[in-house]
Amino acid sequence: MGNTDTTALGGINLDIYPGESLVIAGSNGSGKTIFMRILAGLLEPSGGEILFRGERLKKAARALRASVGLVFQDADAQLIGETIREDVAFGPKNLGFSKAECIEKVEYALKAMGLADKGDYLSRRLSGGEKRRLAVAGVLAMGCDTVMMDEPFANLDWPGVVQVLEIIRELKKRGTVIILTHELEKVLALAGRLVILHKGLIRDDGAPDAVLDRLNGEYGVRDPRRSCLSAADCTWLD
Ligand SMILES: Nc1ncnc2c1ncn2[C@@H]1O[C@H](COP(=O)(O)OP(=O)(O)OP(=O)(O)O)[C@@H](O)[C@H]1O
Ligand SMILES: [Mg+2]
Repeated sequence: MGNTDTTALGGINLDIYPGESLVIAGSNGSGKTIFMRILAGLLEPSGGEILFRGERLKKAARALRASVGLVFQDADAQLIGETIREDVAFGPKNLGFSKAECIEKVEYALKAMGLADKGDYLSRRLSGGEKRRLAVAGVLAMGCDTVMMDEPFANLDWPGVVQVLEIIRELKKRGTVIILTHELEKVLALAGRLVILHKGLIRDDGAPDAVLDRLNGEYGVRDPRRSCLSAADCTWLD
């Protein structure tokens, strides 16, 4: 896709299997967010096509929305409802579930994300980590069995990162998780499969250790499997 002389996203040929935990790593500008915006229907690819369960994206849009929950990089941009409960209710209402079904789905999602006691809190007052938790609750309430998160660790401190990792661990028990990030060191232990995206193309795809063993420095992704035994070892400078 892109205009005549640039390609933001070139070769994405990716089969995602139910129940897997996939990490797509790529440096700034590698195409992670564009990939997600196309899936969300916010951007049209200028070439190629995306199939969802064998159907073209436009035709499958509704099924995709009901199945794949997208959690955007900017948690604030995803807030819709004034309170946490209203926010989580937005998706299932939109999908046309009955009032009783909506209540059931919202309560399930709030509980799953540890927000059951906070339903009446104002959503905009939540911390960054809690806003991600809320965004995930929103997609769980829609019944999504797959959750895709774009840079879920952005701007979060250590406790916030831990909160998001706990969410990912929880999501792994419930379905498929896809994490788009350049912060591999935070999430690698939860990855069943690692994909490297660079300049809009998939450059590698496989078991995390195997992919890291053959990592090309050009991709701008750092192998995080280094340990620091002392402060002097703890640097990202080579
Ligand atoms: N509509 C568009 N058409 C063509 N190119 C675009 C379009 N929107 C963004 N780009 C370019 O596509 C590239 C990939 O952008 P993208 O936002 O997907 O990167 P990213 O991997 O999410 O990076 P980051 O880690 O910084 O969030 C960038 O070089 C960007 O300038
Ligand atoms: Mg991005």
